[in-house]
Formats: sequence, C-alpha cells, structure tokens
Amino acid sequence: MVAVAGYHTIGVDSLTPHLGAQIDGVDLSQPLSNETFSEIYKAWLDWKVLVFRDQHIDREQHKAFGRRFGRLHVHPMQHSYGGDPEILRVKTTKDSAYTAGNGWHTDVTCDEIPPLGSMLYITETPESGGGDTLFANMALAYELLSDTMKSLLEELTAVHDGALPYLGSYGVAPPDGAKYPKNEHPVIARHPESGEKILYVNSGFTAYIKGMHPWESRMLLDGLFRFIAQTPRLVCRVQWQPNTLTFWDNRCTQHHAVWDYYPHSRYGERVSIVGEQRPAA
Ligand code: SIN
Repeated sequence: MVAVAGYHTIGVDSLTPHLGAQIDGVDLSQPLSNETFSEIYKAWLDWKVLVFRDQHIDREQHKAFGRRFGRLHVHPMQHSYGGDPEILRVKTTKDSAYTAGNGWHTDVTCDEIPPLGSMLYITETPESGGGDTLFANMALAYELLSDTMKSLLEELTAVHDGALPYLGSYGVAPPDGAKYPKNEHPVIARHPESGEKILYVNSGFTAYIKGMHPWESRMLLDGLFRFIAQTPRLVCRVQWQPNTLTFWDNRCTQHHAVWDYYPHSRYGERVSIVGEQRPAA
C-alpha cells in the first residue's frame, strides 16, 4: 500500500496505482464531521473502492453511513430474502446453491437508475481463508480500448435484464407474476461527477446490444466480458477480515465475489445507495 498525500482528517493508502484505497482514522459507528465526510467522498471518487477495517457497526449505523451519500436502495430480489428491505444479506454456507456476485457484474444495472454505490460489511470470513472480492476499474477498461473499438461502442445501447441473474442463475422468480426490471443503458457511459468515460456492460446483467443481429451482439459482448475477466491490470483484490466495510462506486466498477471456500461460510450485509440519474453518454 502507498500513502496518498493531501488528506488531513483520514489516512488514505492506495491498493493499486489506479483502483482501491484503505481508509484509516475513521470510526463509522460515530457521526462523521463534514470535513471527514468530504475527504471520504473525495477519496471515493478518486479511488472508486474504499476499504474500512476494524469497524464495529450495527445495521442502523451502516444505513446511516449509506444515507450520507443518498437514499437507500431496495433490491429487486428483496422479496425472496425478507427482513429489512434496505439491507441485503450476503450469506454463503455449505448448503448454498450459489453465492451472490460470483461472476463479474455491476450491481443491479437492470434498474432504470442503478445504485451509485454499495457498502458491504463482512462480519464472518471463511475459516479456510479465501472469499476475497475482485474489483475492476471500468474507466481504465475504456481507456485501454483501441480508438476503433471506442468509436464503434460509443454509438451503441445495451439492454440490461434482471431476469438474467435472478431467474437464470439464481432461479428466483419475481413475486406474483411480476417481472424483473429491464432497462437500456449506453455501452459507453460518462461518470456524472468525474466526467470519465466508462465501459458500461457487465456479464451479470447485460443481455444484448440493440440494433445488431443476435450473433453480432453475442460476439461483441463475449469479447468485452473476456477482456474484463482477462486483464489483471484493471483489478484490485480486497481480502476481507471480519468487520471490514468496503464501499465501491458502482457507476465505474465491476466486482466478482470469489467462491473458493466451500464448504466454509461467509456472511455480510450490503447497503446500496440509489443513483440520482440514469447512466448517460
Ligand atoms: C455483491 O455482489 O455485492 C457481493 C460481493 C461479495 O460478496 O463480495
């Protein structure tokens, strides 16, 4: 880790040169001063993934931290979980048929306005070790494309479909014959705050590209998904310890929860914050 200069109320140590930072000197169980909040906000925009170690927070404190960034999100699969609608439980045991997020994805891009960020608080890590989460920088992914590919993608719109993971992989039908959300987003979006261009397709939710034959769309998406999965320089890896909270900018990252710890267990809770605007080019 490398110490990042320019912060006065928090410590910021970068995890890689372009993505991820560990934040020190913050107790998330206590109200944050405006100055500390502003520095966390700046670090979040700059580093996209923030890791807070050794935090001891209850659900209300977790949600209060989330609310500093906006309104809390209710997950479209919440009906199948029960409990507090603003808390998404991430629980894997030896009896789990799947583990949430075990594949590259951006959270809930099937929504018209996907969450702007998510905060996952892990309290139980597998006794075998493992259970890390990989994050990928999608602004860097855009930068690494050729100019020819950038020009092609800039014109395109993709359909993101909640049925793909929830019905397809997890096998959870929506309640009472309702449908999972399905929405269109530009393939290249612009981050609403930093202005960076973002490669905005993910293998979790992106079903097809509009205006192309199915085989063309499949070929292009599979190529982009392979590029994301096979380019280690896009990635930072968060190794969880119990009571670690990680907060990612969902507008410009993807993540992948690694299920390498069967038959052991892992438990955490996620709060997501509703975005303010549709992804736009
Ligand atoms: C998620 O996709 O939010 C889950 C990530 C994780 O469990 O590490």
